[in-house]
Amino acid sequence: MAVRIALGADHAGFALKQVLVERLRSAGHEVVDLGTDSEESVDYPVFAHAVAAQVAGGEVERGLLVCGTGLGMCMAANRHPGVRAADCVTVAMADMARRHNDSNVLCLGARLLDGDEAWTILQAWLTTPFEGARHERRVAQIDDLAPASGD
Ligand code: RB5
Repeated sequence: MAVRIALGADHAGFALKQVLVERLRSAGHEVVDLGTDSEESVDYPVFAHAVAAQVAGGEVERGLLVCGTGLGMCMAANRHPGVRAADCVTVAMADMARRHNDSNVLCLGARLLDGDEAWTILQAWLTTPFEGARHERRVAQIDDLAPASGD
């Protein structure tokens, strides 16, 4: 099933993002590329927040963020209520991020994964369904039990 997906990367993730943009478009997905557009040094939170805002606002169904490790992108994206960003380095992690956590943002580390590895993880994450049931309650608690802003 084709999805509308926003992509963001910093300088470390730029080259891998370009590979994944091409593969996603070839596979029929609708890509919203929010940058960065070169390997010039930039700050990853800018791109993480841009993608996460589109996911939280419902403008896209999914988000994909690429930096050196995926870690900083994941930390920033998860500040947005409703965003469940998962930094995955294996297909098993991507599978569980979907089945149990209903992840809607995938973070990838360009310094940890080559293009084929990243694409395999991304495909698993795009196609694996959320199991629902008891996981619905737990996923809701991620936001519902979080301290309110300013607490
Ligand atoms: C940039 O050097 C690097 O810190 C960034 O891409 C990312 O890995 C941060 O989490």
